[in-house]
Parts: sequence; structure tokens; C-alpha cells
Amino acid sequence: MIIRPTRLRHNLHIRTLTKENDISLNDLVYPLFVIDGKNIKNPIESMPNIYQFSIDKLLFEIDELIDLNIKNILLFGIPNKKDDLGSDSFNKNGIVQKTIIEIKKRFPELYIMTDVCFCEYTSHGHCGILKNNHIDNDLTLKYLQKQALSQVQAGSDLIAPSSMTDGMVKSIRNILDKNNYINIPIMSYSAKYASSFYGPFRDAVKSAPKFGDRKMYQMDPSNSREAIKEVLIDIEEGADIVMVKPALSYLDVICKIKDQINIPLSSFNVSGEYSMIKAAAMNGWINEDLVRDELLLSLKRAGSDIIISYFTKDFAKKKKNND
Ligand code: PBG
Ligand code: ZN
Repeated sequence: MIIRPTRLRHNLHIRTLTKENDISLNDLVYPLFVIDGKNIKNPIESMPNIYQFSIDKLLFEIDELIDLNIKNILLFGIPNKKDDLGSDSFNKNGIVQKTIIEIKKRFPELYIMTDVCFCEYTSHGHCGILKNNHIDNDLTLKYLQKQALSQVQAGSDLIAPSSMTDGMVKSIRNILDKNNYINIPIMSYSAKYASSFYGPFRDAVKSAPKFGDRKMYQMDPSNSREAIKEVLIDIEEGADIVMVKPALSYLDVICKIKDQINIPLSSFNVSGEYSMIKAAAMNGWINEDLVRDELLLSLKRAGSDIIISYFTKDFAKKKKNND
């Protein structure tokens, strides 16, 4: 007798019934960039179809997202003025705080996640407070607390610290609990690599470090056991969700971590990963829709419960047209 695995591929019904993984808008998070000013919708050259929005224009965009059934967003702020401490990031009139307040007024059903870091807000472009050109880890924790608390006070639903500061999850959990925000989850960028795939993002938020690089705090792409160490530390400190970033070149890391934990795992399909696909598609070299869906599926198959992706809107549009 011939054993016939192709029996389960014979028609669409049986293929659909036996599918192991699927992508859903329930699991996708759409990143958005908000900039100070009015009437601004600036295309980001290295990220086709992604824009910097001023708050007024962002509200129109969100209207469209809700129409497309997108449920979760991750906000990044680009302030007018950057300084040594990244003060805009913990100001109650800061760009992100103002944005959250305006979104919540009009779209209470949208789940707003906020990135907590300093690189978008500091004049030097590093992810923390500097002393003698080095990050002062423990001083940075105090400012991370201020930033996270002010975002939550403005109405953020979930805090996503991305600075790779030791102790960040514990410090943020403490300050949130002390202020009675016991039900606000922390999704930690636990295994965040010093990656060259962030290039287009740094154009988008003008956050490239003015000197040096981020290798002193982000992880070495050679390491995967260290990713497990980072994740386990964050879980011990109280993280509710852990993240691997970037995603596509780190499927092995996602997979290994998934085996070790019992809390949700997210992965960040970053800017460079998005732009590569867009560029190839614009050249007519690949079928964008099919390649995008295959990539998103690969993240699920590797073990991501949640996927943060600039492709979310395209995916949602396609889905709406097909339904
Ligand atoms: C801020 C931050 C970065 C990204 C998310 N949060 C950039 C960085 O560390 O330089 C990258 C996102 C992307 O490339 O899409 N720390
Ligand atoms: Zn940063």
C-alpha cells in the first residue's frame, strides 16, 4: 500500500479543515507614526504606503482602519523638539499623550499599545539617558517609569518597553501598580536584536543614533540562547507578553522561546522586512499579496501568537475584498 499524504491536499475543503495555522486580524497589530503639527501626511520614502501623520490626519486614517476591522495599533511619537532627556516622552502634553487622548475620545473600541523608549525623543538618538556617552541604565529606569506612567494616564491600553534597559519590566510594573494601573499589561521587547533591518524605521522617526550604535544594549544577532535568558528574566519581572524582534530572520529564536514559555509570544515584522517585500513587488519580481501572507504565516507557524506588522492594513484590505 502507498501511504498518501496528498489525500489531505486533494481539494480546498480538506486542505482548509486540516490547516494548522491561519492569520487573523485578531492577532495583528498595526504600527502608526504620529508627528507634531497640523494637516501632515508625510510619506516615508523607504516604507511605501506608510506615513507620518499629524493628529488631525491620523484620526481620518484610524477611521479607515476601524472600517477595515483592524483592532490593535502600536503608537510611535515624533516630537517637535528633542533634548538630552527625551522630555517630550513623559510630558502630559507630549505628542503620544495628546494622540492617545484624541483617539480615545473618538474610537474607544480601538486597543492602543504604546512603545516606551527614548530614541525617538532624545537629541542624541540613543534609547536611554546618557552619562559620559554611555547609557546610565539605572537612571534610565526612573525616566522609563515616568514615560510609561504618563502614557497610561493619557489612556494607553498596553505598555511596550523597547529600550533593552536591564530591569525595565520590573520598574514599569512597580510604578503602574503603585498608581493602581494593575490591569495594564506589559508587552516587553525582550529579545531585541541590534539589527540592520530597522533602517527604514529610523528614517521614519528620525531616531538614528548621532554617534555609535546600539550594540551596547541590543542583542548580538549571533545569539539565541541569550534570547531565552532575556525572556525568562522579563517573565520573572512580570512581563505579560514577550517579544522577539526582528521576526523573519529570527524564526529559530521565536521557535526556541515558544518551547520554553507559557505566556503569549509576539514578534515584530520590522520596517526593513516590510520594505524589502514592497521593493521587490514594485519591481514586479514577486506577487506581493501571496508573499506577504506566506511570511505572516511563517511567523505564526514558528510560534508567534501576536504579530506586529506594517502589512496589517494591506492584509485587512485584501480580506475585506475577499469576504
Ligand atoms: C525603538 C524602536 C525601534 C523599532 C521599534 N521600536 C528602533 C530601534 O531600536 O532602532 C524598530 C521598528 C522597525 O524597524 O520597524 N527602540
Ligand atoms: Zn529606542
